[in-house]
Amino acid sequence: MIGAIRDITKRKRMEQKQEKLQVQLLQAQKMEAVGVLTSGVAHNFNNILQTMVGTIELMRRSVPHEHPNADRLRTLANSVDRGAHLVRQLLQFSRKAETHKEWTNMNREIAHVVALLEHVIPRMISVELRLAEEIWTVNADRIQVEQVLLNLANNAVDAMPDGGRLIFTTQNVVVDDPHALGLAGVNLGPHVLLTVTDTGCGMDEETLRHLFDPFFTTKGNDKGTGLGLATAYGIITDHGGDVACFSEPGLVTTFQIHWPAVLDRGETRDVQEQVAPDYPHGDETILVVDDEPGIREVTGEALESLGYTVIAVKNGEEALIDYEKKKEAIRLVILDLGMPGMGGRPCLLELRRIDPEVKVLVSSGYHGAGLVDDILKNGAAGFIHKPYQLRDLAVRIRDVLDHGRQENGEVKQRILRLGS
Ligand SMILES: Nc1ncnc2c1ncn2[C@@H]1O[C@H](COP(=O)(O)OP(=O)(O)OP(=O)(O)O)[C@@H](O)[C@H]1O
Ligand SMILES: [Mg+2]
Repeated sequence: MIGAIRDITKRKRMEQKQEKLQVQLLQAQKMEAVGVLTSGVAHNFNNILQTMVGTIELMRRSVPHEHPNADRLRTLANSVDRGAHLVRQLLQFSRKAETHKEWTNMNREIAHVVALLEHVIPRMISVELRLAEEIWTVNADRIQVEQVLLNLANNAVDAMPDGGRLIFTTQNVVVDDPHALGLAGVNLGPHVLLTVTDTGCGMDEETLRHLFDPFFTTKGNDKGTGLGLATAYGIITDHGGDVACFSEPGLVTTFQIHWPAVLDRGETRDVQEQVAPDYPHGDETILVVDDEPGIREVTGEALESLGYTVIAVKNGEEALIDYEKKKEAIRLVILDLGMPGMGGRPCLLELRRIDPEVKVLVSSGYHGAGLVDDILKNGAAGFIHKPYQLRDLAVRIRDVLDHGRQENGEVKQRILRLGS
C-alpha cells in the first residue's frame, strides 16, 4: 500500500516536471517569434534615426551657440540618442546585435557594477556580495554583462522602495542533467551560476509569466519601458546561457543565471575605449548608395561640407552603372546593405568583379551576428553601424582611404541607466 502511494507521488512529480519543461519550451518559442518581429522594426527604425542624426548634426554646426535653437537642437539630439538606445536594446533582445566577446571574470564585473551603483542606490538598501573565490572564466561581451547586471539591480531597487537587501552570489557549477533540475534551457557542462536576490515586493504569477516579454511593465509609463528583462534575456541566451526567476509576492525574488564557463582560463583583457579625433576631412570622390532619400541627402551634404565630392544613388544597379563610368574618380563607395532591387551584398561582389581594388565601406542598421565578418570576408574595407555620428563616419572614411581598411573597431559606447 505504502509502495503504491509512493508510486503515485513519483508519477505526479514527473508530470509536474514535464509540464514545467513544456511551459519553458513554449516560452522559448514565443520569444523567438517576438525576436524576429522586433529585429525587423529595429532595422527600419535605424534608417529613420540615421536621417535625423545627420540632419541635427548639420544644423548644429550652422547655428551659433547663443541662438535659442541651439538648445532645442541639443534636446532633439538627446531624444534621438534615446531612440537609438532603445533600438540597440531591441536588437539585443532579438539577438541580432554584434557582440564583442572576450574572457571575462564575472566577479570583477559585479564589483564594477556595484561601484557604479553605490552612488545611486538609496541608503536603506544594503548590497551584499557572496562571490566564489576561484570563479571560472566566461566568454562574454563585458558591456552586455554590465547591462544585464544593471537591469537586474535597477529592478531590485525599484522593488524595494522602503529598503531591503540586494544580494549578488556567484559559484561554479557543472550541469550534468538540466531536466532533473527543471532547467530545460541550461546546457550541459561547466557554468558560472550568478544569482541576484532582493527582499522587495516580489511578483505574482501573472507578472512572472510575462516577465521577459518586451514592453511588459507594471511601472508607470514614465518609469519603465519593459525592455530591461527582455534585453537581459536576449543577451544571456545569446551567450548560450539561461535565466530563470523565482519569486514570492511580498517576500523575495531571485534571478538565477547560468553562464557557460571556459575552463582553460585566460587573462581578462581590458577593453580600450577609443575616441575618434574631430572631423577629419578630404577631397576624394565618394559614391553613396542608400535607398533612403533622407540618408543620401544628409550624408551627401555632410561629406561635401568635409570637402569630399559626393555622388549619391539609390540601389545596387545604379551604383554599378555609376562606378563603371567613373571608376577612375571614385575613391570610396559607402554601401547600404538592405535595399530594394540589388542589395548591398551582391553589389559589393559585382563592384569587386569590376575593380578588385575597390574600397567599400558598408553601412547598415541591421546588426546581424556574424554580419560584419561576412562582409569583411567578402572584400569590404570596413563597416559602420547605423545610426552613426558624422564624426565616426569621417574617421572611418579616412581609415579606409589612408590605410586600405578600417583600423579602429567599433567605438564603444557605454550606456548606463542608473535608477529610474
Ligand atoms: N526584482 C523584481 N521584483 C519585483 N518585480 C520585478 C522585479 N524585476 C522585474 N519585475 C517586474 O517585471 C517587470 C518587467 O521588468 P523589466 O525590467 O523588463 O521592465 P521595467 O523595469 O518595467 O522597465 P525598464 O527596465 O525598461 O525600465 C517590471 O515592471 C516589474 O513588474
Ligand atoms: Mg527594469
